[in-house]
Amino acid sequence: KWPEQVTIKEVGPRDGLQNEKTFIKTEDKIAWINQLSKTGLSYIEITSFVNPKWIPQLADALEVASNIEKAPGITYAALVPNRKGLEGALAANVDEVAVFMSASETHNRKNINKSMDETFPVLKEVVVEAKKAGKTVRGYISTVFGCPYEGPVQIEQVIKVSENLFEMGIDELSLGDTIGVANPRQVQEVLTELLKRFPKEKLAMHFHNTRGTALANVLASLEMGIAIFDSSLGGLGGCPYAPGASGNLATDDLLYMLDGMGISSGVQMEELTKAAFFIQDKIGRKLNSHYLQTLNKS
Ligand code: HMG
Ligand code: MG
Repeated sequence: KWPEQVTIKEVGPRDGLQNEKTFIKTEDKIAWINQLSKTGLSYIEITSFVNPKWIPQLADALEVASNIEKAPGITYAALVPNRKGLEGALAANVDEVAVFMSASETHNRKNINKSMDETFPVLKEVVVEAKKAGKTVRGYISTVFGCPYEGPVQIEQVIKVSENLFEMGIDELSLGDTIGVANPRQVQEVLTELLKRFPKEKLAMHFHNTRGTALANVLASLEMGIAIFDSSLGGLGGCPYAPGASGNLATDDLLYMLDGMGISSGVQMEELTKAAFFIQDKIGRKLNSHYLQTLNKS
């Protein structure tokens, strides 16, 4: 009943690094992305074109995106909040643009400085212009399973934002458990509603592992036929100011589980591990994925 094949979308260079205290040198980011390109991954989110005052860790977006060695068969994507960000992404000639907003009002304001209603036209312009430029567009919804400011999020809010984003013309929607509060039952409840409206091929899951439920949530999603998962190598990220808060679901933990279940992803663990040790060295602390820790100990 599980999909036989899954696409792993590596978001470490964006979602991981945006939350690390250490600023990784531009040349190291580029070298790391080039290594990731040799692991069998077919999708890498390489940076974000947001205001560098908000996310200084990725202030070198244009340089990174312009200087990586693009390998054939890999989609290189960048996060974009508005027209100005799109200009950067197009100048760097990324393959795919990812727009984002929250399912909760307060998080949306804190993250992108606009109400949800004010955000729709801004994103629509990005989607339309990106499509005109021949790019595919991914949409993210944050706080799908809970908001750090408002707590529980109504599923109607998630449906409303999903419908708006698909109407704008996004090709795929990624459902974000931004603060890692989701559980498998909730995941299946949300997916049951969304799958009534959108095909499973257009839905991706984006779990953070803050409370250790990410892999359980992946399994719950696999059971519903979902076959696209976002993850970050080594579990990179997390908030340096919130003790115990970890980052995205780790790509290596995800791959370990999928490999063991006989679900193919095309990603090679050995090459992936090399890339993990490279970035661990640059970050200057041991990354906290489970798989990597078994290797770190030995
Ligand atoms: P704002 O201050 O409202 O923007 O920020 P503004 O339009 O009023 O412009 C103010 C200044 O920002 C101007 O510069 C603009 O040029 C500049 P000034 O005249 O003051 O020198 N500016 C920009 N600069 C560079 N790139 C741009 C850009 N746009 C305006 N694209 C804005 C609005 C959205 C820009 C800001 O709030 C922002 O950058 N937010 C970034 C938030 C962010 O990156 N959050 C993390 C990513 S989302 C996430 O992690 C969740 C996800 O992983 C899924 C999940 O886990 O749920 C995707
Ligand atoms: Mg995220």
